[in-house]
Amino acid sequence: MKIQLLVAATTAASVSARPQYHTNNPHEWMARGPNDFRGPCPMLNTLSNHGFLPRDGRNITKANAVTGLKDGLNFNGSLSELMWEQGIIANPMPNATFFTLEQLNVHGVLEHDASLTRTDAFLGNNHVFNETVYNQSRQWWTGEIVTAEQLAHSKIFRQLESRAQNPNYTFSASIEEFSLGEIAAPIIVFGDMSTGTAQRDLMEYFFINERLPEELGWSKKSNEITLMDILSTTAIVRNATSLLTGPPAPESPHRRRDLHAGLVAGLQRAL
Ligand code: HEM
Ligand SMILES: *[C@@H]1O[C@H](CO)[C@@H](O)[C@H](O)[C@H]1NC(C)=O
Ligand SMILES: *[C@@H]1O[C@H](CO)[C@@H](O)[C@H](O)[C@H]1NC(C)=O
Ligand SMILES: *[C@@H]1O[C@H](CO)[C@@H](O)[C@H](O)[C@H]1NC(C)=O
Ligand SMILES: *[C@@H]1O[C@H](CO)[C@@H](O)[C@H](O)[C@H]1NC(C)=O
Ligand SMILES: *[C@@H]1O[C@H](CO)[C@@H](O)[C@H](O)[C@H]1NC(C)=O
Ligand SMILES: *[C@@H]1O[C@H](CO)[C@@H](O)[C@H](O)[C@H]1NC(C)=O
Ligand SMILES: *[C@@H]1O[C@H](CO)[C@@H](O)[C@H](O)[C@H]1NC(C)=O
Repeated sequence: MKIQLLVAATTAASVSARPQYHTNNPHEWMARGPNDFRGPCPMLNTLSNHGFLPRDGRNITKANAVTGLKDGLNFNGSLSELMWEQGIIANPMPNATFFTLEQLNVHGVLEHDASLTRTDAFLGNNHVFNETVYNQSRQWWTGEIVTAEQLAHSKIFRQLESRAQNPNYTFSASIEEFSLGEIAAPIIVFGDMSTGTAQRDLMEYFFINERLPEELGWSKKSNEITLMDILSTTAIVRNATSLLTGPPAPESPHRRRDLHAGLVAGLQRAL
């Protein structure tokens, strides 16, 4: 028991004493340390790797999320509050005021099947970058400028692959809503929201390295990213995921159900 406590104390001390925690640029990229938490969200991992969120992947409070997403990505504070409120269910404690990146790993709370860069929980590790899965996704990003349709192709392919390989494949209407936001994310941060496109080199660098692609010339958007930006980009992606040609059937019960589920509906209600 004493030995265990000593080991724990020594480990904690060496974490806070890690020399790379002390640097001139507080947002320099550093690989996670052995005691740092990371999770299934490539962007939250990235923000922690840059110290925009706590480098240890713990204590993601509302205040820390608002500051981290503002300083790292120029996200509007109200938008970040809404996103954090969607995320806090990851901490099972009642009235929790923070979550950790590791808590996001629990399958079926927020983490779901058919991710672009992680395999399904049933098939392996659901939260580390998986090159086999990533290769399945990136084969659809055929140009330097990746269209919403190509991003949609990668997602649909992952869903098909997942449903065919994973007997426990689960993809509810609310997962669909979260996924549309996840597909829109590269357009929002690494692309052009008016055309619904993403710059492939920036997006790939980010997914592979969990690092902001500053050395490729990227910088955060100068205009603050708002809820309206998320909704309009998500709408482009939603449209691009349809395998039908011509206009959608607006009165179908499926569409009405979608509008009442998940993140986008939650954000719309908050407007
Ligand atoms: C408080 C804010 C956030 C929370 C709680 C959160 C949570 C998550 C979770 C739990 C996943 C895993 C879903 C899965 O199983 O694939 C995920 C995926 C993802 N997130 Fe986040 N996220 C947040 C903010 C962001 C931001 C700001 C971006 C970028 C603009 C982003 C981009 C992505 C992308 C691209 C994926 C999909 C990864 C894949 O399919 O492999 N997230 N996020
Ligand atoms: C967690 O973050 C809050 C700011 O949101 C800060 O006041 C608090 O000291 C932090 N707690 C720990 C344990 O780091
Ligand atoms: C951005 O967030 C601030 C609060 O952080 C809020 O007052 C403002 O209305 C927001 N702007 C938009 C366009 O959402
Ligand atoms: C959580 O917050 C609610 C509403 O503020 C309160 O009624 C409840 O007692 C709190 N629960 C715990 C475990 O603190
Ligand atoms: C299997 O599917 C059930 C029902 O959707 C779900 O509750 C469970 O978390 C899944 N398990 C894995 C490992 O995918
Ligand atoms: C990576 O994904 C493939 C395909 O789903 C899977 O077979 C493999 O076990 C995964 N690797 C890990 C480490 O989970
Ligand atoms: C993924 O694709 C790259 C580039 O084509 C290749 O070098 C690598 O071996 C592939 N990895 C896996 C696990 O298939
Ligand atoms: C919706 O998708 C169709 C077919 O892919 C495309 O022709 C159309 O331009 C898209 N509309 C919008 C508003 O993105």
